[in-house]
Amino acid sequence: MLALGLETSCDETACALVDDQGRILAQMVLSQLDEHRPYGGVVPEVAARSHLEHLDHLIAQTMEDGGVAFSDLDLVAATCGPGLIGGVFVGAMTGKAIALAANKPFIAVNHLEGHALSARMGTSLPFPYLLLLASGGHCQILAVEGVGRYRKLGGTIDDAAGEAFDKTAKLLGLGYPGGPAVEKAALKGDPGRIPLPRPMKGRPGCDFSFSGLKTAVRLAALKHAPLNDHARGDIAAAFQEAVADIMADRVRNALGLGGPEIRHLVVAGGVAANAALRKRLLETAQMAGITFIAPPLNLCTDNGAMIAWAGIERFRLGLSDSLAFAPRPRWPLESLGG
Ligand code: KG4
Ligand code: ZN
Repeated sequence: MLALGLETSCDETACALVDDQGRILAQMVLSQLDEHRPYGGVVPEVAARSHLEHLDHLIAQTMEDGGVAFSDLDLVAATCGPGLIGGVFVGAMTGKAIALAANKPFIAVNHLEGHALSARMGTSLPFPYLLLLASGGHCQILAVEGVGRYRKLGGTIDDAAGEAFDKTAKLLGLGYPGGPAVEKAALKGDPGRIPLPRPMKGRPGCDFSFSGLKTAVRLAALKHAPLNDHARGDIAAAFQEAVADIMADRVRNALGLGGPEIRHLVVAGGVAANAALRKRLLETAQMAGITFIAPPLNLCTDNGAMIAWAGIERFRLGLSDSLAFAPRPRWPLESLGG
């Protein structure tokens, strides 16, 4: 089985050809970072126009690299939400057009389901597992019980984890995107010199809150102004350690709530690219006697392969969507059927 997957919900224009063994035959990921950098964040209008400009030739290149034609496909999958709606329209309409022209089934993929199932690509990871999804737009912990079957155990009550990294980077003058910049600065810092709070840590349940931490970073930056590299490194390291502490605490609670059948902890989303966080979550999983799975970095950040794969997982269960499927800016995972 061969799927073409399209991803355009944020600031990566991406497409991939994936088979039902989880092998990636070809893929392209075009980051719009340079286009958004002057604004210090993703501008929805700029993103949508850029997807429109690039998606068709990325698809053509991917098909050529994979050595296949549209007639060889078994299905076309496209992210149809949640995300920046202008970009989602571009991917959804392009996917539908290919499906219609080539007379292939169309799968409207929920972007979060793409992240949630990416760890099963080419692996034998069984359901159920615990998923920590931490990206620029999302921060939640889910029990993944099957394709389309997600039980949300907790989520952020304010900012997403990636947003907190991006804002911290901005406050420290580290540039955009924030996550990798904070991680790099933290390498040279002392996490113990500047105290920062750990909102929600120790509370029951597994919700997150990052706005108080962000305020504390702002106050620390003011206190140590003008910031030199030394202070930047120390604040970045303290921030990263606070996030790791909070995540480890929330995941410990989630393992209790998820039930004894859960034997694996999976991370996904751009924040899961952070090595310090991965290390802490590995330790947390080991202490709980379960296996930690972090997909390769290129599958953690937004990509077309995870969308193609989610399409395959759904199609294998006999699920497909009408070309009338309406893209949606909000689309909670718990509302999916599988
Ligand atoms: O999943 P993703 O590529 O796009 C969304 O769906 O949001 O996640 C992007 C987010 C950004 O906020 C970025 O700063 C963060 O992931 N990120 C990181 C790292 N790399 C990317 N956060 C912490 N450490 C990193 N190494
Ligand atoms: Zn994402």
